[in-house]
Amino acid sequence: MNKGIAVYPGSFDPPTNGHLDLIQRGSKIFEELVVAILRNSEKSPMFSVAERLGMLRALTADLKNVRIDTFNGLMVEYAKSIDAICILRGIRAISDYEYELQMALMNRKLEPTLETVFMMPADKYSYVSSRLVREVAQAGGPVKGLVPEVVEQKLKEKLDPAYKLQDLNIVEVPVADQKKPDRKRKKRV
Ligand code: PNS
Repeated sequence: MNKGIAVYPGSFDPPTNGHLDLIQRGSKIFEELVVAILRNSEKSPMFSVAERLGMLRALTADLKNVRIDTFNGLMVEYAKSIDAICILRGIRAISDYEYELQMALMNRKLEPTLETVFMMPADKYSYVSSRLVREVAQAGGPVKGLVPEVVEQKLKEKLDPAYKLQDLNIVEVPVADQKKPDRKRKKRV
């Protein structure tokens, strides 16, 4: 059987445990799984494409048949350019179905030879979405267990830049306590 290449497209802003679960499942089924981050999204993302690329690469370093890439424009055109035979998407709950069906049928209209394959992430992640993770983190709530640790750390750094300094044991000196520059004029010689 030719298991072929599959593309798993998305925004991944940020990658969640649900995404990772789907990547692990997909990697067992397909010869190669290309996780493709959309570059030209209309939404203003929390993480840059480079940051998402870095996080996904770190998270999938142990999966030898998984590659992380980015794409612009039509997803089916990108899929064809890498010789993918199918598109992988996750369905968490019935509420995802309508949007996913619409997208799958539009992609089929654009490229009839490409099949969309749906997989379900583990039920413990069925309520986890990037949007809700961003919302909880922005409001100061805990995201432990919803996203991988690498992502949790990045969220903390993004939302509280002081966190990175604390973590590195760097203490920021309050402006008032900072040593004033020595303004004594040097004698002209
Ligand atoms: O994770 P998301 O945001 O639900 O992923 C959506 C994505 C990136 C898969 C979808 O928006 C997409 O494929 N966009 C590329 C443009 C495209 O091909 N549109 C037509 C297909 S509906």
